[in-house]
Amino acid sequence: MEIFKKRDQLKSFLETSKKNNKKIGFVPTMGALHKGHLYLIEQAKKKNDIVVASIFVNPTQFNNQEDLDNYPKTLEKDIELLKSVSCDVLFAPAVKEIYHENIVSDKFDFDGLEHEMEGKFRAGHFDGVGTIVKELFEIVSPKNAYFGEKDFQQLQIIKKLVAKNKLPISIKGCAIFREKDGLAMSSRNARLTSEQRNAAPLIYKVLKNVKKKFQEETIEEISEWVENQFKNHPILQLEYFTIADEKSLKSINIKEFDKKYRAFIAVFAGNIRLIDNIQLKN
Ligand code: PAJ
Repeated sequence: MEIFKKRDQLKSFLETSKKNNKKIGFVPTMGALHKGHLYLIEQAKKKNDIVVASIFVNPTQFNNQEDLDNYPKTLEKDIELLKSVSCDVLFAPAVKEIYHENIVSDKFDFDGLEHEMEGKFRAGHFDGVGTIVKELFEIVSPKNAYFGEKDFQQLQIIKKLVAKNKLPISIKGCAIFREKDGLAMSSRNARLTSEQRNAAPLIYKVLKNVKKKFQEETIEEISEWVENQFKNHPILQLEYFTIADEKSLKSINIKEFDKKYRAFIAVFAGNIRLIDNIQLKN
């Protein structure tokens, strides 16, 4: 695996590959890799000649300094994991290689997608995501880029970014990879205490029940039931639960037959924030 820290070196390496008509697949990450990330690399390997992964803990998308400071960093282990799935190239720049002097994000208009759910609780988060992903797309200029449905709102926002900027990149969404007990894999899981880790599978259990209930109960009844599952919970605090339209990401009160919906949830275990979602059947 080739490892680059400098954008120009990566660019000139990829230029040669592009001249030889090689198809480039790209998987951006913030490292602390787990099987969910590796699954994205495996999907990319199937459809591209060269797979580039990036590891960059992007400061501008963190709305909480403590979360940024505590974000797990495991570069040596990550490199071994990337090699184990035959990733071809790793781009792991330093902060100043990306942001130069000013660590600030650009402002984006994602047609309102950025104001729903995560946008309400993480001010500026999607401006940070937009800034880094646009920059990385510019450096790598891949044919295909892979994102997880774990961050479903992010996936829809990246699709919007590509459409609005008319970028010649195809965005591929990949299913959520879970632990055996259903907990969605996340780099932040590594920070959970064993007590928090034991409690955390409740999140997916609740979502699976929501999927069942969606057939018979009203949205109001379902939301009340979800709130009750976390009420007075000694370890997990519900931040939000909502059922939203997959396209607009707007919360709904009544279902319509021709629309696709998902249930979205954000929960705190101490100061560690966990998110998850599930597709619902109409
Ligand atoms: P990160 O949280 O490291 O995730 C990198 C990619 O892996 C994202 O597309 C995310 O949705 C996907 N992913 C994470 N956990 C997953 C799981 N359990 N199953 C499937 N896919 C999963 O998302 C980011 O980094 C950043 O915001 C980034 C896009 C890199 C911009 O900084």
